[in-house]
This record gives sequence, structure tokens and C-alpha cells, in this order.
Amino acid sequence: MLSLPWNGLFARVAVLLPFSPPAARFDYNSYSSNTLDALKALQHWYDGPTGLWNSTSWWNGANCLTVLADWATLNESGPSTLRVADILSNTFSKAQLTTAVTQKTVDPDGFITSGYTCLGSQSPGSQVSTRGFPGFINDFYDDEGWWALAWIRSWDVTQNPAYLATAQDIFDDMHNGTDSVCGGGIWWSKKRDYKNAIPNELYLSVAASLANRVADSQRADYLALARRSWAWFQQSGMINDDHLVNDGLVVGPNGSCVNNGRPTWSYNQGVLLGGLVELARATGNDSYLDQATDIATAAIAMLSDRDGVFREATGCEPNCGGDGSQFKGIFVRNLRYLHKAAPRDEFRDAILRNAESIWAKNRDEEDRLGIQWVGPASAGLGPNASTHSSALDVLVAAMAVVEY
Ligand SMILES: *[C@@H]1O[C@H](CO)[C@@H](O)[C@H](O)[C@H]1NC(C)=O
Ligand SMILES: *[C@@H]1O[C@H](CO)[C@@H](O)[C@H](O)[C@H]1NC(C)=O
Ligand SMILES: *[C@@H]1O[C@H](CO)[C@@H](O)[C@H](O)[C@H]1NC(C)=O
Ligand SMILES: *[C@@H]1O[C@H](CO)[C@@H](O)[C@H](O)[C@H]1NC(C)=O
Ligand SMILES: *[C@@H]1O[C@H](CO)[C@@H](O)[C@H](O)[C@H]1NC(C)=O
Ligand SMILES: *[C@@H]1O[C@H](CO)[C@@H](O)[C@H](O)[C@H]1NC(C)=O
Repeated sequence: MLSLPWNGLFARVAVLLPFSPPAARFDYNSYSSNTLDALKALQHWYDGPTGLWNSTSWWNGANCLTVLADWATLNESGPSTLRVADILSNTFSKAQLTTAVTQKTVDPDGFITSGYTCLGSQSPGSQVSTRGFPGFINDFYDDEGWWALAWIRSWDVTQNPAYLATAQDIFDDMHNGTDSVCGGGIWWSKKRDYKNAIPNELYLSVAASLANRVADSQRADYLALARRSWAWFQQSGMINDDHLVNDGLVVGPNGSCVNNGRPTWSYNQGVLLGGLVELARATGNDSYLDQATDIATAAIAMLSDRDGVFREATGCEPNCGGDGSQFKGIFVRNLRYLHKAAPRDEFRDAILRNAESIWAKNRDEEDRLGIQWVGPASAGLGPNASTHSSALDVLVAAMAVVEY
């Protein structure tokens, strides 16, 4: 497929600056064309009968859908080329009929493992009891949050009211996962045994995003919950002195909760940015963007290798498991949302620099993208729908920021 010389241009200017090429040299058409090739490659994993992407898990599927929807918001003629609206609609009807079980574990080092076994697709007429996750509800509040955000983005593209209504129903279920342990916040799962960053960041982002999209009569409730969520998160202890978010909290013997010191995974620095952007938009208060900028700046420094290419700071690559393989793209997707609301050259350069590296060094002959953004694509187990959609988030972000 078409290959453009992003890397050659990069090499010539790299000596002049600590990290970044003058990104304006790479034009919109190059990014747009590369991204389209990569989107087509993603769809080779798409399984029509289940509405999910083979080679990756349930929650990752929500992120595959989000990257497609994000792309479709950037190019009006795109949806008809790739039939994005049909993909959204197929996943909406089929994925929740897929019979599946999910299990997750976190080891003491904070390494997360999701097991997802797809037991096959059901016909739409089958009994509810044979369904997997009707309404995109399961036992994990973070999985629910990913799907809620995916349907919100899908609504942005299509204005299909069923997508927004589903996101609202998912949020209701998430809201039931909050209580007063640690002074507030939502649990990770319905077992209620871990209070951690990711479901809370998703809860904030879904609440604030809904506040910006629902009818005026419903807006105040979502906004109040979003504000409360951020007020709690800020003082929860999960944001450390370096402005980075650790994985979660540990409940002490006296009932008080402290930062558990587990890894500062890239996605935990990311979802918060998107949530704060939506909260700033809902309130008209830009101080949320300042707070997001502090986190984004610290995260860019943490995630950058000496050439400014992002890698998971735990050093897990290329073996980050089926969850960790998704994380970095989620950070960059949300960095792009922040750049749009509070632009900084540093953010834009980081996005473009990573897109350059991915396309030049981390792509196989079928335009499939691997886990290590410095390449090669074959690292670890090679590309799958998770590593690919994660890197694709960066290409879409590059398209979005290249001209401003
Ligand atoms: C996805 O996996 C299922 C089960 O192994 C298989 O039947 C189906 O053909 C695969 N679809 C694609 C698009 O690879
Ligand atoms: C939109 O995407 C199509 C391919 O679907 C491409 O041909 C076209 O150049 C893109 N338009 C813009 C403005 O990016
Ligand atoms: C809400 O959470 C409580 C406590 O875990 C549970 O007993 C109840 O069934 C949940 N309600 C719904 C509607 O899920
Ligand atoms: C609860 O215990 C933690 C140590 O586990 C301590 O830092 C904190 O001050 C204690 N809080 C109260 C209210 O006693
Ligand atoms: C904006 O939000 C900050 C908290 O982040 C708050 O301290 C400040 O009072 C708010 N400003 C207005 C005008 O509401
Ligand atoms: C996808 O590939 C990455 C990188 O090789 C790997 O860590 C992950 O386990 C793979 N996912 C699945 C579900 O096999």
C-alpha cells in the first residue's frame, strides 16, 4: 500500500531540536491517506457476526469502535468510504448478543490481565439469558465506561438517539457502583474489592460528556455528578506529587485510603484529560484545562524515550498483555482532545512525532501496527487488533492536529 516518506523528513531535522520535527512539513493528505490504509487493515480483524474485533478482548473492542468514530468525525466523506455508520450499527446490535465471559486479575505489581472468552454469537431472537452483556453491561465498571464513551462518540457521528440512550443506561449502572468507601468514587468491579483510577476517570468522562449532549432538562444531574467525581478524584491521593496518576488506592485498617503506588499506566494519564476537557466545556471554567495540562505535560515526559517516542514506562513492552497493549493510544487520543481545547506546540509535536515513528518503523507489509512505536511491528506476538487500534489512535490524532 501507499507509503509516504515521513521518516526521511524527520531524520533531516532531528538534530536541531530535542525531540521534534517541525511538524508542518507533513501535510494533511499524507496523514489522511496513511490513516485510511490503517483503518482498512483494522477491519480485517472485524468479525461481522459478533460485531467485535478478533484477536482482542471485549473492552478493547470499545476502543476499536471509538477510533473509527473519532476518524469519522474528521472527514465527512469518510463514513461512506469505510461504511463507518454500518459498522457502528452492526456492533451495536451484534456485540451485545455475543455470549462471553470476562475475568480480570491484577497482580501485586499492578499488572492487569483480562480473560475474555467469546462463546459465539447468538441469533437476535434468542433468550436474554443466553446473551453475554446485554446493554453493554458486565461485571466491570471500567469495561462499561469504555463502551459508554464509544457510544457517545458514535452518537457524535450519527446522531442516532439509541447510542446516546445506551450510554445513559450504562452510566446509570456505573453510578450504582459508587459508595462512601474512601470518601466516594466508583469501584473497579461489582465485587467491590478495588477502588482505582480507571473506572473513576471513565465515570467522570462519561458524566461530563453526557452533560454536554443530553437535553437541557437532564443536564444538571450529569454535571453535578461530574463535578463531584473530579472533586473526589483530586483529593483521593491517586494523583502523586509528580502530577502522575497511580493505578489505585489501598484501604487501610482504619478505613482511610492511600495511593497504592502501583504503576502510572499511560491510559490513567489519558482518560482524565478527555474528562476534564468535557468538564471545562460543560462549565465554561478553563481551570480544568490547566489541571489537565499539568498531567499531560508530566505524562509526556514520563512516556517519552530519548527520541520522544512513547513507550509504557513500566518497561513491559513488548509483553504488556492483552490490556496493556491498548493503553498508549488511549493517552494520545485524549491528548488530542486536550490540544484542541488548550493547544500547545509540545502536545502537537508529541502527537506528530509518534505518528511518524509508527508509520515509518512499526508497520508491516499489510499496514498492521505493532505494540512498540519504535518498531518493529513484529515485536512481541506481532500486531493484533489491540496494538493496531492503539497505534491508529495516534494516526487519527495526527490528522486532527496537523493543521492547527
Ligand atoms: C473471527 O474468529 C472466528 C472464531 O474463530 C472465526 O469463525 C471468524 O471467521 C473470524 N473472523 C475474522 C474476520 O477473522
Ligand atoms: C476524506 O477521506 C477520503 C477517503 O475516504 C479522501 O479521499 C479525502 O481526501 C478525505 N477528505 C479530506 C478533506 O480529508
Ligand atoms: C446496585 O448496587 C447494589 C449494591 O451492590 C446492588 O445490591 C443492587 O442490585 C444494584 N442495583 C442495580 C439496579 O444494579
Ligand atoms: C489511618 O491510617 C493511616 C495509615 O494506614 C494513617 O496515615 C492515617 O493518618 C490514619 N487516619 C486516621 C484518621 O487515623
Ligand atoms: C473554576 O474551577 C475551579 C476548580 O477547578 C474553582 O476553584 C473556581 O472557583 C472555578 N471558577 C469559577 C468561575 O467557577
Ligand atoms: C496483542 O499483542 C500484544 C503485543 O504482542 C500482546 O501483548 C497481547 O497479549 C496480544 N493480545 C492478545 C489478546 O493476544
